[in-house]
Amino acid sequence: MTPTGTLDALLVEQRVFRPAPATIIEANVKPHDLAEATALAAADPLAYWEKAALELEWHRKWDAVLDDSDAPFYRWFPGAQGNIAHNALDRHVHAWTKNKLALIWEGEAGDCRKFTYFELYREVNRLAGALRALGVTRGDRVCLYLPPIPETVVAMLAAAKIGAVHVFVFAGMSAKVLRERINDCRAKVLITADGFYRGGRLINLKTVVDEALAGVRSDAAETVVIVRRSGDDIDMQEPRDLYYHDLLRQESPEAATEIMEADDPLFWLHTSGASGKPKAVIHGHGGYMVGAHHTFRTVFDIKPTDIHFCTADPGWITGHTYGVYGPLLTGATVILYEGHPLYPQADRLPSIIERYGATIFYATPTLIRMLMRYGPQYPKKRDLSTLRLLGSVGEPLGAEAWMWFYKHFGESKCPLLDTWWQTETGMAMISPMPISVLKPGSVGKALPGIDADVVDAAGHSVPPGQGGFLVIKKPWPGMLLGLEGDAAGYVSTYWEQIPGLYFAGDVARRDEDGYFWMQGRADEVLNIAGHRVGTAEVEAALTSHRFVSEAAVIGLPDKIKGEVAKAFVIPDPGWVEAFADADAFGAELRSHVRRELGPIVVLRAVELRDTLPRTRSGKILRRQLRAEELGEGVEGITATDD
Ligand code: PRX
Repeated sequence: MTPTGTLDALLVEQRVFRPAPATIIEANVKPHDLAEATALAAADPLAYWEKAALELEWHRKWDAVLDDSDAPFYRWFPGAQGNIAHNALDRHVHAWTKNKLALIWEGEAGDCRKFTYFELYREVNRLAGALRALGVTRGDRVCLYLPPIPETVVAMLAAAKIGAVHVFVFAGMSAKVLRERINDCRAKVLITADGFYRGGRLINLKTVVDEALAGVRSDAAETVVIVRRSGDDIDMQEPRDLYYHDLLRQESPEAATEIMEADDPLFWLHTSGASGKPKAVIHGHGGYMVGAHHTFRTVFDIKPTDIHFCTADPGWITGHTYGVYGPLLTGATVILYEGHPLYPQADRLPSIIERYGATIFYATPTLIRMLMRYGPQYPKKRDLSTLRLLGSVGEPLGAEAWMWFYKHFGESKCPLLDTWWQTETGMAMISPMPISVLKPGSVGKALPGIDADVVDAAGHSVPPGQGGFLVIKKPWPGMLLGLEGDAAGYVSTYWEQIPGLYFAGDVARRDEDGYFWMQGRADEVLNIAGHRVGTAEVEAALTSHRFVSEAAVIGLPDKIKGEVAKAFVIPDPGWVEAFADADAFGAELRSHVRRELGPIVVLRAVELRDTLPRTRSGKILRRQLRAEELGEGVEGITATDD
């Protein structure tokens, strides 16, 4: 584990973009507010976060802002009681936001559904009542395997409302992954859909569900609630399978909101680490809510008239925090799109911005690079003048894509906020604000209250310009409560790599002005189109194939997806008889990985080998394979690789 070393000073981006005077005048956080916030957060971070918590409604106030007596198991707002659904939904029904649009949904075929806060509230209450009638109570897990449709937002909030824990499995995941997660969380209920549309095709989700449930443990997913989206004929297994709409018809539009402790779990979300299977990160009702609300209000600068378009699927952390909870906590209007971003043409997203007058557009570098490849004529075809802010998240954006997005979506006048954060952090941590001076390719400075630094392996800050490990030095409210069932893993993954500091797993450098420049992962985690994929997971999928003895997986740079995977495989000798040639075998392994893990894992190439390079202790030297592949030196490999 060594950072990539000092970066050539010549690579430092020199361009800067200053906010327009109007942006400063209109911003929620003006320069003097930011100076004040930064000073308060530096002098008394707990006072800063307490102020942020006071912007929300609580059933009972906290006894303390933070209990760090059992660090690193930090407890934010101990003693406080409330429910995120109260703040995201219930309170709007008694406020001016009651009849405001909460959600604008567009299906891939162009169908549109809109929900005011009041309508969303009634729908959520119906599902909350139905879940209670199915026996779901506080602390029970509800697994969501849902496409981006309004019912997905309803399901998240309904689970939260009754104190259940939602465990989202992104609808692109394979049957095998879904089965493992249902088993792991012993989901009482699974909520899914018959199918949905993507790229002009109908995806039959229920078929995948049936395959997943065939091998599921007997005490999990005893009830499956199916949203009718495609209207397709599906196999309904009685009494297990129930239609969402049938269930809701009998339910009252009013339901009580469970009063939760601040650190009661709200959701689990799985994410890949350097080793083993993905782990379930736990977020709770209190601290996460404060983090999501505060950052959405300050960083995204949300105003009553805003229409926020977040392209992330609700099944990822970005969708959870800035597609659902952040917007609803602040009473904003959010756009959710079901389909493929380029369907039927590359102006689909610009057309959505135009149609609903989106004011904020939050996208990912992979998406931006894809749009860039199609050319500026697509955003140009549409009126994007309603936009006032752009955002990016999930991977390094780079100066070139930054400039393109800034120019062709923002007409060189919308601040572009490249937000750095993680599933674990729950909320944006390092990001510009609308009033910030922007540097293309940089994620800006740490937000007020966030103590981020770049350090060497011993935990010492490195000088400006030098590469090092990104760490967070003080707890923050949106932080994970832990890893489900793995207290030791929580400590060793995040708090012991560099003792006492939160280890993000990223390599970064900071410039003379304190701006952070992200350089990718420091560990064996790939970032394929913004999705975290552990090399160990892909290797395990490969070795589960009967003709694979050993496998090593590395990441290779890709112009659009940022990174793709390449596998080195020691085959079982029997492969020679089973396949026509190495290409046919490679193609089979690629589809095997896809079947095992789902389409997000893009395995670009498979190379057959007789041996794999290993350290003396037997660990595969992936960095050597990578260096060979890219024609680089291997001097970065140190004794720590042993
Ligand atoms: O490597 C960093 C990268 O994405 C990782 C977190 O992935 P995940 O938990 O899936 O959450 C993604 C969405 C919040 C980080 O460790 N990453 C995230 N944002 C950025 C980024 N890399 C560079 N620039 C960013 N803005």
